[in-house]
Amino acid sequence: MNVREHLLCLTDELRRLKAEGSRTVTVNEESIAELRRAVEVARAELGTLSPAEPAAVASEEPAAAPAAVAEPPRSFTASTFAPPPPPPRIVPTNAPSSLGTPPPFTLPSGSKQERWNALREIVLNDATCKAHCYAGKKVVFGVGDIDTKIMFIGEAPGADEEEQGEPFVGRAGQLLNRMIKAMGLERSQVYIGNILNWRPEMGARSADGFQTGNRPPTQDEMAYCLPFIRAQIEIIQPRVLVALGKTAVDGLLGADRFKTMGAARGAWHAYNGILLRATYHPSYLLRQEGLTSAPAKKIKRDAWEDLLAVMEKAELPISEKQRGYFKTG
Ligand code: URA
Repeated sequence: MNVREHLLCLTDELRRLKAEGSRTVTVNEESIAELRRAVEVARAELGTLSPAEPAAVASEEPAAAPAAVAEPPRSFTASTFAPPPPPPRIVPTNAPSSLGTPPPFTLPSGSKQERWNALREIVLNDATCKAHCYAGKKVVFGVGDIDTKIMFIGEAPGADEEEQGEPFVGRAGQLLNRMIKAMGLERSQVYIGNILNWRPEMGARSADGFQTGNRPPTQDEMAYCLPFIRAQIEIIQPRVLVALGKTAVDGLLGADRFKTMGAARGAWHAYNGILLRATYHPSYLLRQEGLTSAPAKKIKRDAWEDLLAVMEKAELPISEKQRGYFKTG
């Protein structure tokens, strides 16, 4: 049942009680908070479904400053991972797909940790993922707190990530760590994943034979890896997803939902019943560092406002100092 169907059931029940003559119902604080969240998700879903999106100027930081975000553990019973339907037109229907989709995989019933461990093994041993890694480099799976409220999703591993087998450990990762710190959290308190599990092949090699440069994943590559990030989201069930950059937006919401990051950010969207905020990719923000022009300052403030919105939804404390980061004028 999706959020809207839950709400419809609830309103039906309230109508039935009213017809029976009930005039009051007792609802505890926890249920009220859950209801509020459900309404927010339904609103975001409606926003996601609205046909006209204003195209905005494409643009993709915050820095330094100071509570944990563990959700109560949830129990899982389903043993087979049934991925939700793919978002529209990740792979155009007439486009030949050379990679296809990964072999169907089954996750064990059991604890969240057991399911996550099983998924990690599946991805790290996936023949296609391994075949796309340059010799000696690693397939990269998500890391962090699987009971977190906040899950960040980036694009694809770069040189440092494929070396260490961990997402966001290079320069962009250092900036992401500072962003997380500015939210009052440690990296270990959130979950970080990527749309793609390997570093996209460039073809170009340095004199010592190593791959140089990065490129965004192709639709074909994304389509192959999407079931893996979707399964991570399904297991973790964070309260908020943060899509870092346009590739993550395209992967999670659909490739033709938004023309630019500027159009996707600044509002709530819904991914499979979970609130999603899109913001600029740390690599893009790195390119604004040191720039003092008004547009560069606005980009940093906009990105920080996205994170403030995420903090509010995750019920993190926000100080006045934090609210003021990157404010201009
Ligand atoms: N950029 C990403 O999108 N992901 C990483 O893991 C590193 C850099």
